[in-house]
Amino acid sequence: MTANIHVFENFNNGAEYILLPVSIFLFLKQTFINIWIEEMKKIKWCILGTGGISRKFAEALKAVENSELYAVGSRTRESAESFAHEFNVTKAYSSYEDAADDPDVDVIYIGTPHNLHCENTLMSLEKGKSVLCEKPLSINGNEVRKMIAKAKEKKLFFMEALWSRFLPNIIKAKELIDSGEIGKVKFLNSCFSVKSSYGPEHRQYNKVLGGGSLLDIGIYNVFLSLFLLGKPKEFIAMAGIGSTDVDNSCSFTFKYDNDTIAVMYSSFMAQCDSIAEIHGEKGKILLPNMFHCPNDVKIIRSDGKEEIIQFKFKSNGYNFEAEEVVKCLLAGQTESKLMTWNDSLDLIDMLDSIRKRCGIIYPEHD
Ligand SMILES: NC(=O)c1ccc[n+]([C@@H]2O[C@H](COP(=O)([O-])OP(=O)(O)OC[C@H]3O[C@@H](n4cnc5c(N)ncnc54)[C@H](OP(=O)(O)O)[C@@H]3O)[C@@H](O)[C@H]2O)c1
Repeated sequence: MTANIHVFENFNNGAEYILLPVSIFLFLKQTFINIWIEEMKKIKWCILGTGGISRKFAEALKAVENSELYAVGSRTRESAESFAHEFNVTKAYSSYEDAADDPDVDVIYIGTPHNLHCENTLMSLEKGKSVLCEKPLSINGNEVRKMIAKAKEKKLFFMEALWSRFLPNIIKAKELIDSGEIGKVKFLNSCFSVKSSYGPEHRQYNKVLGGGSLLDIGIYNVFLSLFLLGKPKEFIAMAGIGSTDVDNSCSFTFKYDNDTIAVMYSSFMAQCDSIAEIHGEKGKILLPNMFHCPNDVKIIRSDGKEEIIQFKFKSNGYNFEAEEVVKCLLAGQTESKLMTWNDSLDLIDMLDSIRKRCGIIYPEHD
C-alpha cells in the first residue's frame, strides 16, 4: 500500500511579504521604511542558563523575525562569555539577577533546571521583564499559581515553553482529530523513553533539581492527552522509584467519557520508540519517534488508505514558541491564547496528581 505524501516546504507559520517595486526610488524608500519599522519593533531577548536547551533556543532565535538575542545570564562569567561569543550575544552577565536588571531586555527565556523555574521567573517578573519559562513551568501547582499571580500583578507576559504546542505537526494532528478524520477517538497510546546514561548528580536523577522521568519527559505524554482529548475523568498511575528517590519510570492511564482510554509511559531506563498512536472509530493517526516533535503525521484509514503529512521547518522547531512570544509582546498581550495560563495549570495539576498517586515528592517544594 503506497501512501499519499503532502509536504509543506519552508513552513514558517507567518505571512510572506513580496515587494513589487514600481520604480527604484519607490523600492528604496519602501525598503528603508521596512528596515526602520523592523528595528523599532525588535524584541530583545535574554537567556538565563547556558545548558543544552538554552543553546537550542539560541539557535532557533536566529530564525525568528523581530527578535534579537541581546543578553545572556549564567552562574559563571566564563560560561556567559563563551555562550555570548558563540551566539553573537551583546551582553554577558555572570549572574541571573544582573542579566534581568539590564533595562534593554524585553523578555527572559529561562533554561535552568526545574527547581529554579519559580525563583528565576519571580525574580525576572519583579524586575519588570516578560518571561518564557521552560517546561515543567515549576515543580508543583502552588509554585505555578505564584508565578501566574506575579505576572498578573506586574501586567507582564508569561508563558510556558511547551514547544510541542506550537509545532505545526502537532497542531495538524489536533485539527485532524477535531474535524473527525479518524472518527471518535477510543484509544491513545504514547511512550516517551530515553535511556539515560547520566549519573545521580545530573538533573534527570537529582532530586534537588527536580529529577525524574515524569516531570522531564512524561510531561509530553500528559500534554498530548490533555491537548487532544481534554481532562480525564479518572486516572491510575504507578512509578518505578530509583536509588536517587525519583521516578526512573512512570506509567499512567487516563479514562475519559465513552470509555476512551489513554495509556502512557515515561522512562530513563527502557530504550523504546517514543511514539504516539491515536486510534479512532474510522482510522488512526501515528506520530512517529519522537512524537513530541514528529517529522510527520501519518493517517491510516480503516479502508487501508494511508496519508503522510510533512512540514519542512526553517529552523529546529523552537522558533515556533518564540514566534508566539514575539507576536504576543508586539500585540501587548500578557498571555498567549495558544498556551494559556489555565493550560499550564491543567498540566501541572495533572502532574501533581500523578506524583501524589505514585509517592513522588520534592520536599523542598511540596
Ligand atoms: N523544551 C525542550 O525540548 C527541553 C529539552 C531539554 C530540557 N528542557 C528543560 O530545560 C531545562 C534545562 O534543561 P537542560 O537539559 O538544558 O539542562 P542543562 O543542560 O543541565 O542546563 C541547565 C543550565 O542551568 C544552569 N543551572 C543553574 N543551576 C544549576 C544547577 N544546580 N545544576 C545544573 N545547572 C544549573 C546552568 O547554566 P549556567 O551555568 O550558565 O548558569 C546549566 O547549564 C529543564 O527544566 C528541562 O525540563 C526542555
